[in-house]
Amino acid sequence: AQVPVGIDRMAWYTPNHFLDLDDLARARDVDPDKYRTGIGQRRMAVPTLDQDIVAMGANAAQRLLDGVDTRRIGLLIMATESGIDQSKASALFVQEILGLGHDMRAIEIKEACYGGTAGLQIAADYVRVHPGRTALVIAADIARYGLRSGGEVTQGAGAVAMLVARSPRLMRLEPESVCRSMSVGDFWRPNYATEAMAKGKYSEQVYLRMVDDIWHASKGRGLTREEGLAALLFHIPFTKMGRKGLRSLETQLDPDVYARLTRRFEAAIVYGRDVGNIYTGSLYLSLISLLANDPTLGEGNRIGLFSYGSGAVAELFFGVLQPGFRSVLDAEGDRVLLEGRQRLSLEGYETIFSRSLVTDGSTQVLEQGDPHAPHRLVRLERHERV
Ligand code: CAA
Repeated sequence: AQVPVGIDRMAWYTPNHFLDLDDLARARDVDPDKYRTGIGQRRMAVPTLDQDIVAMGANAAQRLLDGVDTRRIGLLIMATESGIDQSKASALFVQEILGLGHDMRAIEIKEACYGGTAGLQIAADYVRVHPGRTALVIAADIARYGLRSGGEVTQGAGAVAMLVARSPRLMRLEPESVCRSMSVGDFWRPNYATEAMAKGKYSEQVYLRMVDDIWHASKGRGLTREEGLAALLFHIPFTKMGRKGLRSLETQLDPDVYARLTRRFEAAIVYGRDVGNIYTGSLYLSLISLLANDPTLGEGNRIGLFSYGSGAVAELFFGVLQPGFRSVLDAEGDRVLLEGRQRLSLEGYETIFSRSLVTDGSTQVLEQGDPHAPHRLVRLERHERV
């Protein structure tokens, strides 16, 4: 039998400022119910300049490193679509900040919101063929669409870190999955743009088409086994999107199974509803949210995960919860992270949003946004980061 490989530990981070979306609705002259129920979001994280993907990724990973033998980490992957450099992998900055060893591959991966899953699967394959080694995967992003844009309400920021190992304590990954990839222009960000461009409604259609196609293909290959499926998670650009994904499968599912998946979906969106889109990490934040907010899940429960990245790549894969998985979660730490945040006024949000890093090589010292975060970007100097 194949040695079990999967997620040994998970942790996440989000910056400590948020905008209440009722405030955004009022400012944009929109009915607050549209954001609350039509989009399904309540709050969104607003990052200050010192919490970029490197800082957020390091802050997420820091939460899981306690007691981990970091000398065994042979692969460090940063998955992001908010890259800070065209050449150097953000993983190298994270490696240095966390004080990790140098006997490892350290790289960055990109394919929109699918990047986290690409990283996780590559890490799992790596661990399968490298006995004694583990892999650290970090998915970190800042979702920016622009002030008064159609996507403004679906912004967010945060990072999820996952340690991938043999005989994992949290979730074993089944090696078989179904993927789909094809070039689609639903959402993208050219190199010269600081904000994403999206054909909003079209992107929803592509997402749902991928759900349908991949579900049928998985069923045809005997992978869904939905009678025993404890939960089905979705990439969550905003919670209504995941809800639409689940609803689109209703007629194909036994009513009891659909009721169970719907109940568990509610637990899976608790964190995302208050953080917003974190692109590569969204699906994984949903998994953490599910495990922290549904006390009825138990060892041996099988969970399906639908990953979607615009552009577009999708994958449906499955994991099985391991004995004692609750002991490696930190629901109290999650609560402190979410409840310790500061609420911004609309003006405060717009001011922070409009700030940018210098591009001329002059020195820029950054204000500290999160007094509790262990890592941050301190300043820029001669085009280099400190
Ligand atoms: N009360 C309750 N609901 C209301 C309402 C009210 N007063 N007013 C409107 N609504 C509902 C609408 O009926 C609609 O519901 P359905 O989607 O179920 O039809 C919903 O609120 C949204 O309203 P609109 O149809 O008017 O949509 P919009 O023009 O505001 O755009 C959006 C919404 C397309 C999601 C836009 O925010 C956007 O472009 N977001 C960024 C792109 C995105 O996230 N795409 C998702 C798929 S791509 C992906 O997943 C990758 C990724 O991470 C980006």
